[in-house]
Amino acid sequence: MRIEPIRSVKGTRDLLPPETNLWQRVESEARGIFAAYHYGEIRTPVLEQTGLFSRSVGADTDIVMKEMYTFQDRDDESLTLRPEATASVVRAYIEHSLYNQGGIHKLYYIGPMFRRERPQKGRYRQFYQIGAEVLGSEGPLVDAEVLEMLVLFLGQVGIREYQLLLNSVGCPKCRAEYLNVLREALGSVKGSMCGDCQRRADTNPLRVLDCKVEADQPIIDKLPKIIDHLDPECRQHFDRVTSELQARGISYQVTPRLVRGLDYYTRTTFEITSGALGAQNAVLGGGRYDGLSEMLGGPPTPGIGFSIGQDRLILAVQAAAALESEVPLAAYVVWMGEAALTPAARLARELRAQGLSVEIDYDPMKIKKAMGIASKLQARFAIIIGEGELATGRYQLKDMTTGQQQEMEPGNIVSYLKGRL
Ligand code: HAM
Repeated sequence: MRIEPIRSVKGTRDLLPPETNLWQRVESEARGIFAAYHYGEIRTPVLEQTGLFSRSVGADTDIVMKEMYTFQDRDDESLTLRPEATASVVRAYIEHSLYNQGGIHKLYYIGPMFRRERPQKGRYRQFYQIGAEVLGSEGPLVDAEVLEMLVLFLGQVGIREYQLLLNSVGCPKCRAEYLNVLREALGSVKGSMCGDCQRRADTNPLRVLDCKVEADQPIIDKLPKIIDHLDPECRQHFDRVTSELQARGISYQVTPRLVRGLDYYTRTTFEITSGALGAQNAVLGGGRYDGLSEMLGGPPTPGIGFSIGQDRLILAVQAAAALESEVPLAAYVVWMGEAALTPAARLARELRAQGLSVEIDYDPMKIKKAMGIASKLQARFAIIIGEGELATGRYQLKDMTTGQQQEMEPGNIVSYLKGRL
């Protein structure tokens, strides 16, 4: 009887080499830029209490209502696989009383998130985010610095075709007034909108603005815009963010409908989209959340941050053909005859210890087959050790691109290879 193989769960996937090399390169660029802007890494658990997300992301959002992986643990506690990490970062900030240290906290994270969405290109149920959060300042220059860092990062990974969409969703005070205006406007049109919008027109009208139903779009476009209802402080904050972006030569597009699908935002919100991505075109999203700490039982602490969808970032990097995914193999070590195996393995170890990428096979084989493997692996050099080489103490080094071959003492090989790569 044939046993059915078990497959990965729908919406999740295995990432394999050589693509994982690209993931690592993007992560190392991100770590580099975070270090330059003085962010430290935070690692929070993948599992959190469900209440963390219903309180912060919002009970009436798509994420909490439809997309969370939530289950009752054996002791009946409700747990959720994190759909995002901002709430977790703020929870940790409160739990470890980081606010007692004063000053601002800059934290970044890289890791998997879980949302039960309909899988398609660029949308997965387990996906990865590279994110950063700044806690402790409400200054608009922090917003500008965060965006400056993002623009620098995208340039470093070779993404140049993108749009920065920018908006302000105001503070609870001016938003309350706007919501009244919005509710009133929705009163006359909601009857012709989708079921979700009809309900949200009453429960959480802001969420109507991120409805994706095609037929609702012309109606939504005509609704009053939050950017026209900011109070003087929020207006001033937004104007300073935009003037700082202009001063840095960063172009942006003010997008009044950009209220983002999470409830914790205040003032600045933004997204970066890329045409190379198709329908799921948001590479990253973020914004301010000046009230989130208090929502989670902490002291008043303004904050701003972003999360880059790493899966989509990789797609965009691949589309731009900006980074190589292959890590070049410096050398393939070929040994002929049992006596050559130990010196060959020693040489491989020494080269690897120097950071060179080296492959060696431990099964005996004919030279022709071994050279075939060297060229299939696209090794830059083949190093051949046989009886003759053992006798003279000089190994054969074949340049696989030119075909030239020379003899070399083992002690000189590292520096020679390093000089050629
Ligand atoms: P978000 O807009 O929900 O924001 O997600 C950020 C990014 O994660 C999206 O722009 C997208 O690239 C990626 N993403 C989201 N869902 C999926 C999915 N199912 N498959 C693949 N990629 C996905 C947040 O998560 C906020 N925590 C951002 C933030 C940080 N705001 C302030 N600080």
